Amino acid sequence: MSAVASAPRHDPGARHGVPVGPDAPVMEVLATMRAMRKLRPDPVDRATLERLVEAATWGPSGGNTQEYAFTIVDDRETMHAVGEVWRRTCRYYTTAQRPLPPPSTTQEAWDKVMDSLEVLAANFDETPALVVASYDMSGILKRMLRGYGHTLRGARAIGPWQTLRMLRHIPRFMRTGEAASIYPGVQNLLLAARALGLGATLTTWHTLYEPDYRRALGLPRSTRIYAIVPVGHPRGHFGPVSRRPAREAIRYTGG
Ligand SMILES: Cc1cc2nc3c(=O)[nH]c(=O)nc-3n(C[C@H](O)[C@H](O)[C@H](O)COP(=O)(O)O)c2cc1C
Repeated sequence: MSAVASAPRHDPGARHGVPVGPDAPVMEVLATMRAMRKLRPDPVDRATLERLVEAATWGPSGGNTQEYAFTIVDDRETMHAVGEVWRRTCRYYTTAQRPLPPPSTTQEAWDKVMDSLEVLAANFDETPALVVASYDMSGILKRMLRGYGHTLRGARAIGPWQTLRMLRHIPRFMRTGEAASIYPGVQNLLLAARALGLGATLTTWHTLYEPDYRRALGLPRSTRIYAIVPVGHPRGHFGPVSRRPAREAIRYTGG
């Protein structure tokens, strides 16, 4: 439990009596799992970062393909290179989005989110670590092509018309399957960070400049990055999430 042992004097759950740590009740953790962008510069040791990644690998993947990769960044040179792109991304995003709070959020609350984005960007080079999550599901197609006899048998089982209808949706099947095979793991990583006394945030805005991020990270052009997760000891506080009531989102079939 090195992360907990080395955790700072600051108690990230204190303000709202929020449970933090390995024994925190799951439902209370979920209800207070805000993005944690305010991080202390104190390093997070590699054994702890690897535990976070292990928790991420416990997430499910389509067909149990497990074609995930998690690149850990904790060296200052790469952090600085990523920071250059990150600050540009943040400048665009906060400038464009600050005046446009989502419908269920007040301008005041949205300003706080925008401020926290800017705090992270301004201090980016001091971020203790990043976990970069990528996934490659193309192997499933290659296996289908190699085992084309089985693929044909599947097609025969449903007939040519249903096969044609289904083939049109293969690109969506692949796109959805790939994203849905990495994000449960990323959520596990965020929860594991919380359990170990750390803070983290799921981010996807790298997709606006993915080639630049890949270059800064030294990743090959074929890598599809799904999330970049800054990790560190929290400087901010966990607290109740602000969401529209679940009852507004619930639908039932059958009238
Ligand atoms: C799909 C997705 C993409 C996100 N991308 C970013 C991002 O690029 N940068 C960032 O700082 N936060 C990002 N977030 C975090 C959200 O901004 C945050 O979860 C949301 O504002 C709600 O705030 P809360 O988690 O603190 O309750 C992302 C979250 C999700 C689910």
